[in-house]
Amino acid sequence: MSEQHPVLAPADIPSIAVGSMNDTHHQEVALVNTLGALLLQARDGNPDPDAIGRALDEWVSHTEAHFERENRLMQEHGFPPYPVHAQEHTSALDNLHRIQAGWHDRHDPDELGDYVFNTWPQWFQMHVNSMDNVTAQFLSNFVD
Ligand SMILES: [Fe+2]
Ligand SMILES: [Fe+2]
Repeated sequence: MSEQHPVLAPADIPSIAVGSMNDTHHQEVALVNTLGALLLQARDGNPDPDAIGRALDEWVSHTEAHFERENRLMQEHGFPPYPVHAQEHTSALDNLHRIQAGWHDRHDPDELGDYVFNTWPQWFQMHVNSMDNVTAQFLSNFVD
C-alpha cells in the first residue's frame, strides 16, 4: 500500500507461469488502484461519485473478461479441475456484481471502500496464489 498503489502494489501480485495471465492481473490491479485513489479522495471530503462509478464499472468489465478468458483456456486445453476454478470465478463475480449494484443504489464510499481495501485484495492474492498458480503451471505447456 502507498499513495500510488492504495490497494495493492504490483510487487504484491503473485507471479505465475503464464505471462498473459500476469499481464491481466497487473491491468486489473491498476484499475483497482485507480478506484482506491478515488475512494481515498472521497474519504478526504472530496467525493467524485461519477468518476467512482466509471472506475468501478471498468474494473467489473475487466474482471468479466479476465475470468472468461481463463475459463476458456482451461476448457480448450482440458484442465481437469476446471469446474473448481470456474466456480470460484462465478462466486467472486457474484460478489463483485452485488457490490457494483450497491454502489449504484447508495453511493456509499465506505461500503465500497470496505470491499475494495479489505475484502478484495485478500481474495485476489489467495486466488492467484492457488487457483491461477496451478492453472498457469498446466497452461504454460500450451500458451504464453
Ligand atoms: Fe486470474
Ligand atoms: Fe482465476
